[in-house]
Amino acid sequence: MSFVRVSGVGSYVPNKVVTNDDLSKIVDTSDEWISSRTGIKKRRIATSENTSDLAGKAALKALKNSAVKAEEIDLIIVATTTSDSFIPSMACKVQREIGAKNAVSFDIAAACSGLMYAMSIARTYIIAGIYKKALVIGSEVLSKVLNWEDRNTCVLFGDGAGAMILEASDLDGIPFMDIGSDPTKYEVLTSNGLALSNPFTECKADAAHYVEMNGKEVFKFAVNIIEKSINDILEKENLTIEDIDYIVCHQANYRIIDYVAKSFKGHREKFYMNLDEYGNTSSATIGIALDNMNDLGLLKKGQKIILVGFGGGLTWGSALVNW
Ligand code: UT7
Repeated sequence: MSFVRVSGVGSYVPNKVVTNDDLSKIVDTSDEWISSRTGIKKRRIATSENTSDLAGKAALKALKNSAVKAEEIDLIIVATTTSDSFIPSMACKVQREIGAKNAVSFDIAAACSGLMYAMSIARTYIIAGIYKKALVIGSEVLSKVLNWEDRNTCVLFGDGAGAMILEASDLDGIPFMDIGSDPTKYEVLTSNGLALSNPFTECKADAAHYVEMNGKEVFKFAVNIIEKSINDILEKENLTIEDIDYIVCHQANYRIIDYVAKSFKGHREKFYMNLDEYGNTSSATIGIALDNMNDLGLLKKGQKIILVGFGGGLTWGSALVNW
């Protein structure tokens, strides 16, 4: 049995910046509405790179940051719902891109909770002694599956990738993780895959893979699950909110995070947010946030950080990280 620690983070976003004002020229919206209802000011939109390209670049930064060589990586998991090919997987493409010739690679899907799920799987393998160094990535080009005529959804999302290196360690760097899913509300956040299409079916192929969402239902779920996840971690790890340095939630809406922060009075500044810059990049948000925090010099050895993701499924995932 070994412990696991996060030894590096990385992220990558495409160059193209799209502001709220830019969007107001495409759909009936305004900077005022988007900023006040969500906190989002801009987002990056992919114009030439696809999901595996973003994932590969985030991976290279995480490797550099951890000083781990690509050949040392023995597990690569990419969490995505916007793959650029069904075969090979995004993880196999990343493996080739970075030259991780000794890794086993596969993808998983858990919508915006994806990176938490990937972390949980990698952590379990490492604790079991099966693998020693894992690369986990959340990468999305959501802009491919947005209906750019639907102001309810197209203003919320952005493209990007966030990556982490997890390593076997003497330090208990991820003492707690929890992942879960509740299928009773799966219809509140959906994006369809390919419809049946073959010479033997009467079904007509459906071309629309658009994200559709009941925002209010997701909002309620998010507030409840984030608060519950934080409290579960504090209780199970025998900690108080005072012991925690940062809380990094899935970046969907500043009002969700603000709402939760009200339950932890006096600790608002611990809830890191960068959704004004990038919008909701689904499975990538937590990795991008951690990498931004690291670049800003906010992360220091010995800190305790809570991560909480939530999203379609409905799914959720949380972790306590000892940095
Ligand atoms: O990672 C996936 C997780 N997703 C989330 O966490 C999303 C959670 N939900 C939310 O963030 C919020 O529910 C939204 C931002 C999606 C929506 O905010 P809301 O305060 O719940 O607004 P609403 O849907 O109730 O819409 C209020 C009004 C409506 O007009 P009427 O019917 O009151 O006349 C909408 O048509 O705002 C209108 N509206 C807009 N107006 C301008 C909706 N989208 C826009 C828009 N620009 N982009």
